[in-house]
Amino acid sequence: MEETIKSLLDDSFESAMALTNSGVPQVPDRYVLPPSQRPALGASIGAKETTLPVIDLSLLHQPLLRSSVIHEINMACKEFGFFQVINHGIPPSVVKDALDAATQFFDLPVEEKMLLVSANVHKPVRYGTSLNHSTDRVHYWRDFIKHYSHPLSKWIDMWPSNPPCYKDKVGKYAEATHVLHKQLIEAISESLGLEKDYLHEQTEEGSQVMAVNCYPACPEPDITLGMPPHSDFGSLTILLQSSQGLQIMDSNEKWVSVPYVEGALIVQLGDQVEVMSNGIYKSVIHRVTVSKDYKRLSFASLHSLPLHKKISPAPELIDVNNAPAYEEFSFNDFLDYISSNDCVQQRFIDTLKKNNS
Ligand code: OGA
Ligand code: NI
Repeated sequence: MEETIKSLLDDSFESAMALTNSGVPQVPDRYVLPPSQRPALGASIGAKETTLPVIDLSLLHQPLLRSSVIHEINMACKEFGFFQVINHGIPPSVVKDALDAATQFFDLPVEEKMLLVSANVHKPVRYGTSLNHSTDRVHYWRDFIKHYSHPLSKWIDMWPSNPPCYKDKVGKYAEATHVLHKQLIEAISESLGLEKDYLHEQTEEGSQVMAVNCYPACPEPDITLGMPPHSDFGSLTILLQSSQGLQIMDSNEKWVSVPYVEGALIVQLGDQVEVMSNGIYKSVIHRVTVSKDYKRLSFASLHSLPLHKKISPAPELIDVNNAPAYEEFSFNDFLDYISSNDCVQQRFIDTLKKNNS
């Protein structure tokens, strides 16, 4: 065991945090993106800003207003596969405590974090850097800890025991996000004209993976990224960001920076909702830019229907004019795909599209 950790430390593993702390004036070559994939920061200055939707979720609980909020959600999902929510019911103190615990975790000495390092995507708790340090051809300026989070009691003992507050604080945030995700899945089902509890059983049994991401200040933010363009595989992702950095691709295939909205959480549709809605909604393609001046933290709560459950287009949305456009797939199929393919080259969901249009 010690041998493995030592060889990882010696050979291949170097976190973005360690690079920043060592004061490198430039990013190492492995982080340099081909020119066409660079973020072109600042290129949009002066361009007309796209306004991204911000939805007041408290209005969902007001019977007279619910249907207009559902309509807003429908518009946002159709246009972007993305929206921000305010008044979502998660107390600011829960959010702040989770961010504090994450800050403390990434500030731990390298040796402590290396206890959890793994390149195996099937591991329920995994510390890492980039996407997968052992296979990435280009590296991304990100460190992360990912852990299964639902049901909490099943997984929490395996979570980091340092800092000592981590399990409690991140656990509270994970539980609160799980409750919020159920409300969102109901609203999204309703917005498709399905029963509110269409996915009820699946969301009860579904999984929640919390990806806690750290993007340290980067000496050359113009030629690297924190995460490459991708869509999330699950049903939906609830994202908490400590500052601006996320960009989403709009329907004209232009990158739009997601503004930091105090107290808001970001909702992104994943591939499972795209398949379930038979493409009426699309999963949102997004990427992360990094900053020269500050470190950014994020919590991506990745919600997914059960591991083995095959997801297919909802029969209610299929008729003579709307043939099923996707093959069915499960979370397990996705994990197998990312273990053996380069998902920066081809998105998993593109392998599911049928040629019947
Ligand atoms: C992710 C992700 C975005 C961010 O973890 O899948 O897209 O801002 N994160 O960290
Ligand atoms: Ni993502």
